[in-house]
Amino acid sequence: MDSAIWFLLLASFVQIYIIAATTNAGDATALKSLVNGWENVPHSWEGEDPCGDGWVGIGCTDSRLTSMTLPNMNFAGQLTGDIAALSELQQLDLSYNTGLTGPLPTSIGNLKKLTNLILVGCGFNGPIPDTIGSLLQLRFLSLNSNGFTGPIPPSIGNLSNLYWLDLADNQLEGSIPVSNGSTPGLDMLNNTKHFHFGKNKLSGQVPSKLFSSDMTLIHVLFESNKLSGSLPSTLGLVKTLEVVRFDNNSLNGHLPLNLNNLTSVHDLFLSNNKLTGPLPDLTGMNSLNTLYLSNNTFDTSDVPSWFTALRSLTTLMMDDTHVRGQIPATFFKLPNLQTVVLKGNQLNGTLDIGSGFSSRLQTIDLQNNLISDFNRNTGTINFKIILVGNPVCQETGTREPYCILPPSNSLPLYSTPRKNCQPYTCGQGQISSPICRCAYPYTGTLFFRALNFSDLTDSTPYETLEQSLMTFFQSHQLPVDTVSLSNPRMDSFEYLLLKLGVFPYGQDSFNRTAISMIAFVFSNQTFKPPKEFFGPYVFGGDNYEHFSDQPAKSTKSSVAITIGAAAGASVLFLLLVLAGIYAYRQKKKAERATKGSNPFAHWDSKKSSGSIPQLKGARSFSFEELKKYTNNFSEANDIGSGGYGKVYRGTLPTGELIAIKRAQQGSVQGGLEFKTEIELLSRVHHKNVVSLLGFCFEQGEQMLIYEYVPNGSLSESLSGKSGIRLDWARRLKIALGAARGLAYLHELANPPIIHRDIKSTNILLDERLNAKVADFGLSKPMGDSEKGHVTTQVKGTMGYLDPEYYMTQQLTEKSDVYSYGVLMLEIITARKPIERGKYIVREVRMSMDKTKSLYNLQEILDQTIGLGTTPKGLEQFVDLAMRCVEESGADRPPMSEVLKEIEDIMQLAGMNPNAESASSSATYENATKGANLHPYSDESFAYSGGFPSSNIEPY
Ligand SMILES: *[C@@H]1O[C@H](CO)[C@@H](O)[C@H](O)[C@H]1NC(C)=O
Ligand SMILES: *[C@@H]1O[C@H](CO)[C@@H](O)[C@H](O)[C@H]1NC(C)=O
Ligand SMILES: *[C@@H]1O[C@H](CO)[C@@H](O)[C@H](O)[C@H]1NC(C)=O
Ligand SMILES: *[C@@H]1O[C@H](CO)[C@@H](O)[C@H](O)[C@H]1NC(C)=O
Repeated sequence: MDSAIWFLLLASFVQIYIIAATTNAGDATALKSLVNGWENVPHSWEGEDPCGDGWVGIGCTDSRLTSMTLPNMNFAGQLTGDIAALSELQQLDLSYNTGLTGPLPTSIGNLKKLTNLILVGCGFNGPIPDTIGSLLQLRFLSLNSNGFTGPIPPSIGNLSNLYWLDLADNQLEGSIPVSNGSTPGLDMLNNTKHFHFGKNKLSGQVPSKLFSSDMTLIHVLFESNKLSGSLPSTLGLVKTLEVVRFDNNSLNGHLPLNLNNLTSVHDLFLSNNKLTGPLPDLTGMNSLNTLYLSNNTFDTSDVPSWFTALRSLTTLMMDDTHVRGQIPATFFKLPNLQTVVLKGNQLNGTLDIGSGFSSRLQTIDLQNNLISDFNRNTGTINFKIILVGNPVCQETGTREPYCILPPSNSLPLYSTPRKNCQPYTCGQGQISSPICRCAYPYTGTLFFRALNFSDLTDSTPYETLEQSLMTFFQSHQLPVDTVSLSNPRMDSFEYLLLKLGVFPYGQDSFNRTAISMIAFVFSNQTFKPPKEFFGPYVFGGDNYEHFSDQPAKSTKSSVAITIGAAAGASVLFLLLVLAGIYAYRQKKKAERATKGSNPFAHWDSKKSSGSIPQLKGARSFSFEELKKYTNNFSEANDIGSGGYGKVYRGTLPTGELIAIKRAQQGSVQGGLEFKTEIELLSRVHHKNVVSLLGFCFEQGEQMLIYEYVPNGSLSESLSGKSGIRLDWARRLKIALGAARGLAYLHELANPPIIHRDIKSTNILLDERLNAKVADFGLSKPMGDSEKGHVTTQVKGTMGYLDPEYYMTQQLTEKSDVYSYGVLMLEIITARKPIERGKYIVREVRMSMDKTKSLYNLQEILDQTIGLGTTPKGLEQFVDLAMRCVEESGADRPPMSEVLKEIEDIMQLAGMNPNAESASSSATYENATKGANLHPYSDESFAYSGGFPSSNIEPY
């Protein structure tokens, strides 16, 4: 966010705080009577001045109470009509307070200013009052996961500003209301993007009037209701749709032909109905990722032609759909295909999966069909094929693995791995975090209502989610240390359940303010999971029993502990920050009206199969050879490890040392990263880029063979681990080498390459302390046609990640320049980019005073840099670093310019940038010996260059 927005936010924050010194008496009284009798009211809620005293979760404007953000406070009690007196209230979030029960008061309709009414996962019951339709400002209405009964109030149709409507997971009955003369209905909600009505008891037909081309819906979720009749063809008019779920109803009749017009739909669920007629034609739905048509009574039909046309398909569920004939081998070439379930059909002939099948395939389940043979001449198959119940398995003595039902509980469950540490046994009910700190995490369950993947054993989606959660928490200044995900599983509603743990930063438990802010991030859907993998979600927060600001204490009247107004107002602050980010994103969006398509989609589809990549100057090593060079991968040669596997040192017959990065045994996933790295690296040849000598792709192994770089990573040297002392001259030389490597990648490599993961652990040092850029697992080549940017899922490492890339998902060379700027700051401070919650960029920016010597940065600078002398050119170096970390990529210099300036700085410092080495006579301790972190390994919490592990049963 640029500094102007920060300033604005701070200014408005201060202003609100000053004005809100005393609370309007009516509001104070109403609030006190509302919570009178509630259990677990915060002990800071004492006195008569909620605004002035900064009550947790209460926000005010001009002495009026405007927001109550109180999710997950363990409240118990009822929501009485007192709420109606808070007439300026704009936001009410009481989510995850399971003890809040009883009906919603009808007087809630008096809260005319309400924009967000969020009561997710409480215990409310009774009918939803019709007066809710008078809250004309409402944008978010989330009443999901309660016990509401009765009909959907037709008056909701009056809420013309509604963006989000979630009534899912209740006991709602009756039909879907649509307008009729003077009666309003849901068809009027032409600004609403989300219709979430799953898991209710809605019945009757889906009214044809419900949908029209005026609507802008993206998610229409009616799964697991009791709807009947046929699906109206008006659905096909809502071109904006992305996720459509009508599964688990009693729909019958033919599907509308114009479904095919819904070209943006990623996920379509129609299984478990009574649909009849021919299979729908889906040729046009070229965004389709997930398709569920199982258990319907379609007419018998031949394998439809769209099987081979849906290029994005990952998951096809079509058990019991009366499909017959032979599956074309080209179907299995769909590049993203992961799961195919076609049980109980009449598929016949020979199963031929061809040779170029999708590298992501995980399961082909063809039980109970008429398949008479299986063509096995297709190379290595490392996924499940199930042909039980087909003629091919009925010959006597068939013991082929595909004729045996795999055990149903064979899913290896994901759990966030420990980051290179031994878990402690924690006392007092505390839990060990992924970085092995004992704490009381905030926990809950994420329920994803649609997914764009089905391989639950692939860790990539979870790792991506972890990273985006952390990025979110850190960029919103929430006190979160780490997050963990565990126990993914699909439930009977086809929701993915994922346990989330959020660990507190700097102390062993959260206070109430922190919990309310974190829970609000989910209840208000402020956090959006990576769209590449995840569809709409809901979160269920568990009761938090360990508030750091809650002494053991009973109910009602509270202990008088006044915590600063700032704490209470920080929820408000968060909102302002969010608003700022929103505004910023909108601005950026507008600035980028012209947007190229992803140039690598095509590349992916061609290369993600088993074919050997195109290499220049790198050769293929056999497994036997490498075994010999590493003395059978002996422990003595094990020089590092990471999530993906291990790094070994090897000796070629010529005596040359090599480093071998070996993916975990049995892990043949991540083939795409593997190929990205070999193909890119084999094309780059520069003395400041680590060179690839070859690879091994044999016997289920994936290994990369590099030149051996003896002095380990820059990170090790900066931390003092390697024993190499880095004086100012050496630091400049390393900065120069890294800049040269990077400038080469951006400007001379063909095609130009964006590294995407520049950081101190990826800068290796050779025997003369020449820097070499390593680890190309996340790199992206830039084609000619891309006009300088690629739209891509955000990857990288926290602390080095370009905020503009994070917000726009548009990757340019300038993202590397940002990371390089962070690296420069690391070089002079020897601090990790994020250390004890402090972000180095902000620290430097705040401490900097250009009128003072060394810019007043003495405190922050690494003490070993100059040893008493003033490092020459340091100010210029800082200036350059700060330009590299400008908020806007356009304001950052290109690498060629950075390089030139570093050369100038070196001359200023009396060095010759073109001298071969100022340090060549020095001898260094071998850095790699005994070091835990090897440069080729990657222990960062980002998953750069990783080979996601997965359990596969090879045949
Ligand atoms: C929504 O409906 C209202 C009234 O029916 C109409 O005035 C308005 O133009 C519509 N908006 C859109 C975006 O279609
Ligand atoms: C699909 O959309 C096209 C153009 O948007 C339209 O002409 C056609 O009638 C639609 N098809 C159906 C079956 O509605
Ligand atoms: C289809 O029905 C069978 C039997 O009831 C069930 O086991 C299976 O899960 C259903 N398929 C889907 C995709 O819901
Ligand atoms: C497979 O089934 C189709 C349609 O029922 C039939 O026409 C074809 O002859 C069958 N093929 C074989 C090899 O049995």
